[in-house]
Amino acid sequence: MTAVTVFTVDGEPLPFVPGQTLAAALVASGRIAWRTTRGGGRPRGVFCGIGVCYDCLVTVDGTGGQRACLVQARAGMAVTTGEGDDA
Ligand code: FES
Repeated sequence: MTAVTVFTVDGEPLPFVPGQTLAAALVASGRIAWRTTRGGGRPRGVFCGIGVCYDCLVTVDGTGGQRACLVQARAGMAVTTGEGDDA
């Protein structure tokens, strides 16, 4: 059996499987977008999935501009979502 642990997204617990990226855990939970663009408020989530497009930005433990598709989930992380580049 695979262990499942938890990080938080905007204060809500989100389970993940060790080895998943933040983006993988978010998508697995049913979230396809977690920020909006500054210019038009358009929803963004994973687009490239390989760290190129910056569509998946989140704030991790207070550090903004983190690409969710590249950051491996760890127990206890505090992830916040937002708008534009401030994610
Ligand atoms: S999905 Fe493109 S950088 Fe993360």
